Amino acid sequence: MNARPPRAWTTLFLCILISGLVVEAIEPVTTSLLVVGTGTAMLGRKIYRYIYENCHENWVNFNATGLKYDLDTKLYGQHVAGQVILKAVTGFMNNKKPKKPLVLSLHGWTGTGKNFVSQLLAENIYVKGMESSFVHLFTATAHFPHEIHIDTYKTQLQDWIRGNVSICPRSMFIFDEMDKMHPGLIDSIKPYLDFYDNLNGVSYREAIFIFLSNAGGENIVQVALDFWKDGKEREEIQLKHLETALSLSVFNNKNSGFWHTSLIDKNLVDFFVPFLPLEYKHIIQCGLAEMIAKGHSPDKEVVEKMAHDLNYFPKEERVFSMQGCKVIPSRLDFYI
Ligand SMILES: *[C@@H]1O[C@H](CO)[C@@H](O)[C@H](O)[C@H]1NC(C)=O
Ligand SMILES: *[C@@H]1O[C@H](CO)[C@@H](O)[C@H](O)[C@H]1NC(C)=O
Repeated sequence: MNARPPRAWTTLFLCILISGLVVEAIEPVTTSLLVVGTGTAMLGRKIYRYIYENCHENWVNFNATGLKYDLDTKLYGQHVAGQVILKAVTGFMNNKKPKKPLVLSLHGWTGTGKNFVSQLLAENIYVKGMESSFVHLFTATAHFPHEIHIDTYKTQLQDWIRGNVSICPRSMFIFDEMDKMHPGLIDSIKPYLDFYDNLNGVSYREAIFIFLSNAGGENIVQVALDFWKDGKEREEIQLKHLETALSLSVFNNKNSGFWHTSLIDKNLVDFFVPFLPLEYKHIIQCGLAEMIAKGHSPDKEVVEKMAHDLNYFPKEERVFSMQGCKVIPSRLDFYI
């Protein structure tokens, strides 16, 4: 009972003391709180930018050295495609004021590396590579399967391109199976590929469009086959040898002719990139790389066994692979 009053007094005294200190300190505290607050907000924004992908250069930044390195060491058997891609993309990315978006058209059989090259490009422009929210992959048969919905697809696709380029001018659009796209749908994206300063306030000049197709694949194979029959080295094949092959297929092939013609007429495609059919040795290279990617130590015997069981043409000589590298990730599992 007796102990209470002194304790109460002490508490009261302490309270007064503290509140006095607080009052004294209130000015500096608010000021520093304000400073700390602003600092935190700025830091917060910085951290936010650091953690969440955005269109700034810490997320979107072209690495020319990286692209060259990747094309030299990871893309097998495509010396022509590698050179064209590197030149085209480096030139475009170094141009501060491009007159139109970059439009690449990649041609060749399945499994020759068209998708893979798109991936390498994405990885050397966007920190998040193919996972970047600025990289858009459309597959004709998956995204636009029904012809009756063509009008919906058109508006949707235009909205997507416009919307995404508004958010990030350096956006990448990859169209797989271009030869299976409805001609009307291709027409609907043509304005975005053209030499416009801007369309309704949006400029598309920094964007990158990549078209993938098998169109012209047969003709490219023929050129490679002719070189081989003449006893010439594959590495002697140059772009000029394949250009005719590509343009012939462009105008002769009914299935793929239309989109080519309509895009070529207006010079909307900047580069046609040919992919050669792969040989046995390239299949081995892909196989070894895939083994490493799967976390195994590379075993040549295993890979050779797998490569041997694949199909090649011409039937007798077995020079070029029918499936290329595409089937390797799944096939390899049976041999490991
Ligand atoms: C560019 O790529 C090279 C080779 O892959 C790599 O060593 C380098 O760190 C990359 N630079 C940047 C800025 O990411
Ligand atoms: C961007 O494109 C994607 C498709 O890749 C689409 O789902 C999205 O709605 C587009 N964003 C805008 C803002 O248009």
